[in-house]
Amino acid sequence: MVIRGGRPLEGTARLPAAKNSVLPLLAAALLCKGESVLTQVPRLLDVEQSVAILTALGCRCQWRGRGLAVDGAEAGGDGALPEGPVRAMRSSVFYLAPALHRCGRVQMPMPGGCKLGPRPIDIHLDGLVKMGARVQWQGESLTVTAPGGLHGVDYSLRLPSVGATETLLMAAVLAPGQTVLRGAAAEPEIADLAAFLTACGARIRGAGTPLVQVEGVEALTGATHTPIPDRIVAATLAAAVASAGGRVKLLGCPFEPLAPTLEILCRAGCTAEHGGNTVTVSREGPLKGVGRVYTGVYPAFSTDAAPVVAAALLTAAGHSAVEDTVFENRFACAEGFSALGGRAVRCGRALEIEGVARLSGADLRAQDLRGGAALAVAALAAEGESRLFGLAHIRRGYGDLAGTLRALGADAACRRE
Ligand code: EPZ
Repeated sequence: MVIRGGRPLEGTARLPAAKNSVLPLLAAALLCKGESVLTQVPRLLDVEQSVAILTALGCRCQWRGRGLAVDGAEAGGDGALPEGPVRAMRSSVFYLAPALHRCGRVQMPMPGGCKLGPRPIDIHLDGLVKMGARVQWQGESLTVTAPGGLHGVDYSLRLPSVGATETLLMAAVLAPGQTVLRGAAAEPEIADLAAFLTACGARIRGAGTPLVQVEGVEALTGATHTPIPDRIVAATLAAAVASAGGRVKLLGCPFEPLAPTLEILCRAGCTAEHGGNTVTVSREGPLKGVGRVYTGVYPAFSTDAAPVVAAALLTAAGHSAVEDTVFENRFACAEGFSALGGRAVRCGRALEIEGVARLSGADLRAQDLRGGAALAVAALAAEGESRLFGLAHIRRGYGDLAGTLRALGADAACRRE
């Protein structure tokens, strides 16, 4: 991606559906005996990997315009997940519970994904074991079986993992009896998954809160569902405005999930207005440092928004520090920030930033999804040309980041790597 910085952003952008909703929703479609249709699905690499896994498990997947239909009527088989897609993304872990229900067993290598530090799946597996599953590791290969089927359970998560909450929710909807999940994650994508499952016939209460209760049902039908908008794309575009200056209206953008990000950007000197599912972010004057801010589980400031906000703060006069309490290695983008002339130093889980007056274009390499987007955000403020490599990371979560920025007036385009 080639970006020539220095142009303010102006205009409107409509948010795509949330990647982190779409991916568990696609896995949940495997639980259903009928057809499910997700409308407005962004064309992301992780969506393509999900389609490959579903197809390998016997589902029929079909794009219908921007909708993606998944028919699980014929799903089944030996539950062996294809290795390439599983290793390519963390979200392959979402197939554990649905494949167990449909195939009686699941076999897969350890899921891949962004290298944000250790990302074990012990809570997913521990919860499944408490529901009657058996887990076996042979080197890197994981086999989970459920000889007597899964059953409801009263389970306390040792930490509010988003993915584990989704795994156990998908396990519980078809497990006979009642399941209570305590200490569950409360991210909006979990409530979205529950909304889809409920439309398919599941009986769920409390999804999106730390206490989730599920009454197992015998079968799920499939449903048509519109996933929630992507709050991390919203945070990325808000940070892009902070970095480049200008004024952008985000359409189809609920305020609540974006509020902690906007709070920080406004403290740095931006302005945010909201109403009627629209958020408008603007920045006219210079930015100032925000001191120390922390990420946390929802509804706190999202870990996924930390790198893009940090990118905007590189030119904020004074000191800022962004500390990620969720992942150990959130700021692999720090090297790229330095290449642009930013003064940003990793210190444990935090990125310590001393604002500089100007950044200069440089060659950059994305190391992970959000860190890659953060390099693009920083490059918008840099004088001269930046060339950003490693776009496969960015395409996992943004359909066309360069095109979106270009439509807002940025000088940004993709060339063949
Ligand atoms: C989800 O990942 C998101 N991915 C991530 O977004 C996001 O950063 C993260 O939640 C936190 O909000 C999807 O929804 C597909 P976690 P997930 O389980 O489910 C530890 C992006 O860029 N943990 O809540 O993997 C783990 O190591 C991605 O879109 C265990 O110890 O996150 C981490 O420190 C990146 N054992 C913490 O919990 C477990 O069994 C939070 O992880 C599970 C997690």
